[in-house]
Amino acid sequence: MSSQIIPVEPFDYIVFGGTGDLSERKLLPALYHRQLAGQLTEPTRIIGASRSALSHEEFRAFARDALTEHVKADELGKDDVERFLARLFYVAVDAKSDKGWDELKALLAEGEGRIRAFYLAVGPALFGDIAQHIRDHGLITAKTRIVVEKPIGRDLASARELNDTIGSVFKEEQVFRIDHYLGKETVQNLMVMRFANALYEPLWNSAHIDHVQITVAESVGLEGRAGYYDKAGAMRDMVQNHLLQLVCLVAMEPPSSMDAEAVRDEKLKVLRSLKPITAANVEQVTVRGQYRAGASAGGPVKGYLEELDDGASDTETFVAIKAEIANWRWAGVPFYLRTGKRMAERVSEIVITFKPIPHSVFDESAGRVIANQLVIRLQPDEAVKQWIMIKDPGPGGMRLRHVPLDMTFAENFDVRNPDAYERLLLDVIRNNQTLFMRRDEVEAAWKWVDPILKAWEANAQAVQGYTAGTSGPSQAIALIERDGRTWHERR
Ligand code: BG6
Repeated sequence: MSSQIIPVEPFDYIVFGGTGDLSERKLLPALYHRQLAGQLTEPTRIIGASRSALSHEEFRAFARDALTEHVKADELGKDDVERFLARLFYVAVDAKSDKGWDELKALLAEGEGRIRAFYLAVGPALFGDIAQHIRDHGLITAKTRIVVEKPIGRDLASARELNDTIGSVFKEEQVFRIDHYLGKETVQNLMVMRFANALYEPLWNSAHIDHVQITVAESVGLEGRAGYYDKAGAMRDMVQNHLLQLVCLVAMEPPSSMDAEAVRDEKLKVLRSLKPITAANVEQVTVRGQYRAGASAGGPVKGYLEELDDGASDTETFVAIKAEIANWRWAGVPFYLRTGKRMAERVSEIVITFKPIPHSVFDESAGRVIANQLVIRLQPDEAVKQWIMIKDPGPGGMRLRHVPLDMTFAENFDVRNPDAYERLLLDVIRNNQTLFMRRDEVEAAWKWVDPILKAWEANAQAVQGYTAGTSGPSQAIALIERDGRTWHERR
């Protein structure tokens, strides 16, 4: 079946933090691509809002630069770009005062009745103020939604507080909590693999799966975000949201449908079944790391501490965890999670290792029988590979070979993989919450993460140094090797 583009109703996207990094790198390019695909209908508008005093024209110039930087040159047809820029407007608003809100109201009044989505691409400290101003200025209509970016809190208590604040203005069904990992193409594919094939689901349990690994390795360092990152660390920045969401999709029971509530109910059960990690076992099952000077992308790079102003910090830039899910399907199957900055390469993978065969009928001379592995690569080069044993083709007797069945079909279909934000931004307009986090999910994730953070503090669990450009501290290798297993390396 060829891909089908279904245009959406006209909308007004109001992007708070419209001149910020996310808007520049992701939101504007994503909406531009959706226009190219023919999905935007007239008179759709994108309204940038932030504190700086900019004219519409200045905002358009900012957007033009953003597109030039982040969209391929051959996709930047002159007419397409002009048509996109003509949709852009700008209002200077102050989240902390009444400044600019009447102007925003007047601009929105021109689109009365249209779908209205407020995107808060700003720090969570401003969520409450913005939500309240939106309400107090009468900007909420029957077709209004609000989109919030992580971090949603820095622990359970602050997440609850934030959710309460947003909840005092918006109904839960109007709140779209973004986790962009859920919009990634291969993450969607994981659900199709599991639930549209008869092959995997009967094997998808502790009787047949030995263990699961989820790696989200980045080669980048702080990227100028020290202020935020040093207070967050890898646990809050990546594990609490992206990695746990991936755990949910691997581990959840089949939902009754792809309906948002059905899917999120199942994900929630996984989060609630995660076995608590406490001060008593935290040192055995978690590793915190921090990169030291090394090399990345061919050149020397500074260590984490040298990137900070004051050069002192105990913040982790790497985490490895042996997690367990205490339910019938997964009891006894470890989920090894790891994520880090300044690692050898940028690669995100989910690896499902099946149990070894119970007995080999082949002579030793045929070679070792290696357990089947399903490798789902999220990035780069999205791919799904099922590693199986075959007979080495040709004469020469029985020799066994471990080969990948490549289920990556991107080259068979002439399509470009949309960025996660393209799908998610339009899901907001389509009012489809399936790929967004519900309040209780976010809180359940914090409920598991909080005790780990507290245990680290209570035990003063130190960060282990690792050289930038490597695969993390040796303690992370030991974590999995203690169980007689090894981290999967990209092949
Ligand atoms: C963000 C984190 O949520 O995800 C960043 O705040 C991280 O620190 C980024 O770099 C990774 O996203 P992606 O899509 O590049 O894997």
